[in-house]
Amino acid sequence: MCGIVGYIGKKDAYPVLIKGLKRLEYRGYDSAGVALYNNGDLLVYKKKGKVADLENFIKDQPTTGFLGIGHTRWATHGKPDDLNAHPHISGDGRIVMIHNGIIENYAVLKNALIKLGHKFTSETDTEVLIHLIEELQKRDNLPLEEALRMALTKVIGAYAVVLIDKKDPTKLIAARKQSPLVVGIGEDGDFYMASDATPIVEFTRRVVYLNDEEIAIAGIDGKLTIKTLGNKLQNLNIQELDLEIEALEKGGYDYFMLKEINEQVATIADAMRGRLSVEEGWVKLGGMEQYLNRILRADRIIFTACGTSWHAGMVAEYLIEDLARIPVEVEYASEFRYRNPIIKETDVVIAISQSGETADTLAALELAKEKGALTYGIVNVIGSSIARVTDAGSYIHAGPEIGVASTKAFTGQTTLLTLMAMYLAHLKGTISESYFHELISELSLIPEKVEKALKNSAIIESIAEKIKDSTNAIYLGRGYNFPVALEGALKLKEISYIHAEGYPAAEMKHGPIALIDENMPVIVIATNKSAYDKIVSNIQEVKARKGIVIAIVTEDDEIISGIADYTIAIPDTAEPLTPLLSVIPLQLLSYYIALKRGCNVDQPRNLAKSVTVE
Ligand code: M6R
Repeated sequence: MCGIVGYIGKKDAYPVLIKGLKRLEYRGYDSAGVALYNNGDLLVYKKKGKVADLENFIKDQPTTGFLGIGHTRWATHGKPDDLNAHPHISGDGRIVMIHNGIIENYAVLKNALIKLGHKFTSETDTEVLIHLIEELQKRDNLPLEEALRMALTKVIGAYAVVLIDKKDPTKLIAARKQSPLVVGIGEDGDFYMASDATPIVEFTRRVVYLNDEEIAIAGIDGKLTIKTLGNKLQNLNIQELDLEIEALEKGGYDYFMLKEINEQVATIADAMRGRLSVEEGWVKLGGMEQYLNRILRADRIIFTACGTSWHAGMVAEYLIEDLARIPVEVEYASEFRYRNPIIKETDVVIAISQSGETADTLAALELAKEKGALTYGIVNVIGSSIARVTDAGSYIHAGPEIGVASTKAFTGQTTLLTLMAMYLAHLKGTISESYFHELISELSLIPEKVEKALKNSAIIESIAEKIKDSTNAIYLGRGYNFPVALEGALKLKEISYIHAEGYPAAEMKHGPIALIDENMPVIVIATNKSAYDKIVSNIQEVKARKGIVIAIVTEDDEIISGIADYTIAIPDTAEPLTPLLSVIPLQLLSYYIALKRGCNVDQPRNLAKSVTVE
């Protein structure tokens, strides 16, 4: 939801900003802009479209300046156009600002400011905030950081903002609440600010993650000051980044999504590293150890998440109830936070999030904390907000996921949740020793089986060619593979814009079967041994209505290949682990269909990677 970047120091700001915006473009890509302090003036360039359009627009314009800010937008208030693009400028032309988040009380503030004579040129909430800062700055003749501090006490909503005052170009000023902001501390006294560490890592590994309601003042003199909205000075908590630049590049692939699908051989292994030993026969999650008794005695585990991460939570429900016999609920974070749920001190609330910044998931966690539940985070982005607010947690170690469609994060989350279920089951004695050891050894084989599953890409591409012009698709799965059906449908709709729905296979008879005709592709995950005959019957029901059946089967399957129109065979594994393999062909299928439909696979329309607004 918008990427923001800022720089102050000895270098030229523009190249830092434009490269940073390209790295952050996954957060929003409907318009982009930069502002540079240049010899007593502000140069502001903004353009509807991608960062490349902005770069093209600026190519013959002056771009020198040691101080600047840049923004790539995912529109909330006001359509994507040049006027609504950031940076926004104060009415007197003195302050320039970029913003990620939503100012919820902007309408009230705007009316008050209009009465004071302010005129607005955009439809954005951001422009209201900058006029408010301008008003307070002028009224009390305040330095920018003070005017910002005062203004933010009047604001309801979420923000990460970075500002420049052309009358005091000695500092870059930022603040955050509920939207992320990282400050990079350069070697030679320069400072970088960004929504995440990706624009910063090639310049410095030393960073400070700003906390909610903190203001950072980065000076040209190399001094960084952090204070709270209450004006209390904070100690600098400097952290080392653990991030490689290569992980941010496409590495020879056409799209990040394809790179990330292929990376799963390694990322699943990384999620397991140090958490399981086949030789010694153990599984453990370090993050759980401190609270193990509380987790084992929990009345319920509640998973809360959004989108793909919610689907991983659904897999966890099957895993934990089946193996560890602890009652589980899976909640959409956006519903959970507002529906006045019953949460007790004996509950454990686990948030699953790739970005660690999803606004609804964060708010659901805050609620759980308020009610006294133990909170746990399963997160990919190190140092992210969810990782910091939870009592404990585990990182999935998947590395940066840049394609908007989540792939390797899903399998990383599912691997971790499988380990969690096995760990709890073993401690509680709810599964036999022999089954525990069988699961350990099967789980350790998953990376090589993923590698094998990826070899189906040519078959999958040819199936994609056959069904690419469909307008609808149905995904069916049972048991552990029902959440995978939901995930397959989400992958298809978000990147190819084909309407798709996932259902438990047996639910088809209760309505969706009416949709089936000779034009309807029905993707059936048919790897479950426990319900094999029932899945065969479900496939027969689709075929009887002339639906096009694409079945994901295990390698030794002979029956379904005789009935389905197309089959994609994946290696066999223990049933609780099948989601880690069955999702791979579904990811590839959506990738190839989107590609063949000419869609932008990495940056699908209307979406953004990190949803920091509710
Ligand atoms: O960063 P998070 O895992 O919290 O994000 C949750 C969803 O926004 C995300 O999974 C989204 O559904 C993906 N685009 C799905 O591919």
